[in-house]
Amino acid sequence: MKSKVIMLVCGFIILISIIGAIIIVNNKKFNVPKEEEKIDLGKTLVIYYSATNNTKKVGEEIAKILDGDLFEIEPVNKYTTEDLDYNNTSSRVSKEHNDENRNIELKNIEIKDYSSYDTVFIGYPIWWGEAAFPVTSFVAKFDFQDKKIIPFATSASSPLGESASKLASLTNSGSWQEGKRFASNVSNSEIETWIKSLG
Ligand SMILES: Cc1cc2nc3c(=O)[nH]c(=O)nc-3n(C[C@H](O)[C@H](O)[C@H](O)COP(=O)(O)O)c2cc1C
Repeated sequence: MKSKVIMLVCGFIILISIIGAIIIVNNKKFNVPKEEEKIDLGKTLVIYYSATNNTKKVGEEIAKILDGDLFEIEPVNKYTTEDLDYNNTSSRVSKEHNDENRNIELKNIEIKDYSSYDTVFIGYPIWWGEAAFPVTSFVAKFDFQDKKIIPFATSASSPLGESASKLASLTNSGSWQEGKRFASNVSNSEIETWIKSLG
């Protein structure tokens, strides 16, 4: 009887040891540190226009995540707060909105080493459901070459709508991809989630 008890206890200890060993091995297996996830879109350039810095922040975050470069589209005559008042029918933007032949004069649009980029983002605020006017003027003049072009926009509430496809139709250059609209105050994590979905 005594030896039976000893055998039972020994059996129990062996069983516990085996279970313990299995748990340790499995933990090691699942806790292997993961290689940091890297998103690779090649050498990246972020071209953007921003009147009140919302789109600029998104552009800067994209460039940060992808270790890319930034290029700002700058009108020769910067838009003042009064210029941007779309509720005033005689403001600059309202007049430009009514002018089908509008052409916003821009500062230098030559981008250093442009041909070295693989992926080009182009960002803009939505104005009256479309890309802000300095961006349409830029796209109409710029040679995007054969680069992959990814549009993004910020707006108070409007969707991307046809803003990006209308930009693409202004040029014969670039391979234009599906774009993304963000709220004016989008969080960095939302931007990162989008960028990860592209990689
Ligand atoms: C002239 C003008 C027109 C606008 N039209 C729209 C619009 O149609 N829909 C919308 O949701 N937001 C509209 N907005 C709001 C901007 O899209 C939004 O504030 C954007 O984030 C501004 O970006 P920015 O700071 O980079 O200039 C408009 C703003 C301005 C100045």
